[in-house]
Amino acid sequence: MKKLFAAFVFAALPALSMGAASDYPLDKVDIDLTDKAAMQDGLRTFANYCMGCHSAQYQRYERVADDLGIPHEVMLENVVFNDSKIGDHMKIGMTPNDAKAWFGAAPPDLTLVARVRGTDWLYTYLRTFYEDEKRPLGANNKLFPNVGMPNVLVGLQGRQVIGCKQVQVVEDGKKQYDPLTGAAITAESCDQLTVVPNTGKLSEAEFDEKVKNLVTFLAYSANPVKLESQRIGTYVLLYLAFFFVFAYLLKREYWKDVH
Ligand code: HEC
Repeated sequence: MKKLFAAFVFAALPALSMGAASDYPLDKVDIDLTDKAAMQDGLRTFANYCMGCHSAQYQRYERVADDLGIPHEVMLENVVFNDSKIGDHMKIGMTPNDAKAWFGAAPPDLTLVARVRGTDWLYTYLRTFYEDEKRPLGANNKLFPNVGMPNVLVGLQGRQVIGCKQVQVVEDGKKQYDPLTGAAITAESCDQLTVVPNTGKLSEAEFDEKVKNLVTFLAYSANPVKLESQRIGTYVLLYLAFFFVFAYLLKREYWKDVH
């Protein structure tokens, strides 16, 4: 009985950790963990827009600077906004209790969030905040309904609202095209996310790129050794290839007289 109970608890854990579930479809993002420029841009966004509320406390500034090829002075000047030293963990001043009082939920540490949620989830989440006057902070999220987090990237993305938009008709899971012209068949749908033109600093494509870079940084942060293991892996393979030659010659030498 005890075992059964334990099995049940473990089976239910992943569902619990996912919080409010939503069947909103995820947008796919193709990140490149060797693109240091992308990760540097993501780090900048993270420091400017996220670290007011979220820490990355299992990560040190110094390690991030070294991994992403940022000189320590530049890191201290542009990324560290409190009196932390370069060797410190990326902690923040806000306490979980205050945060809970302000937002209804404490902002979780984000060091490992890319492993918990996955990059597609993060990419979709950060682009699907929209205006909702029924929420205390005026914002809601498609992927994380009734989220406690305000829409912090609104200045970049612009005001996203639920409105009407022409979208391609999908029947039986297949996108519909006009058989004669080959053009996509569209219809007006009124539960679509749309950005009010000229309300944000970035165009839609630029904003997607910004978020992609931020997600790339979070993916790096959740697995900082990945960069290094790829590099070391190459050396290991080269070494094995090199060693094989000598191992083979040695084998030939040993077996020469046996036949
Ligand atoms: C004003 C404070 C604040 C800022 C700034 C902020 N967040 Fe949040 N964030 C929150 C709160 C509060 C939650 C918890 C929401 C909840 O559980 O309802 C949250 C939740 C999240 C989650 C969901 C975590 C999970 O797995 O449940 C992610 C991911 C996230 N934030 C990413 C970011 C990123 C990336 C930025 C910067 C672009 C950012 N946040 C900026 C307050 C903030």
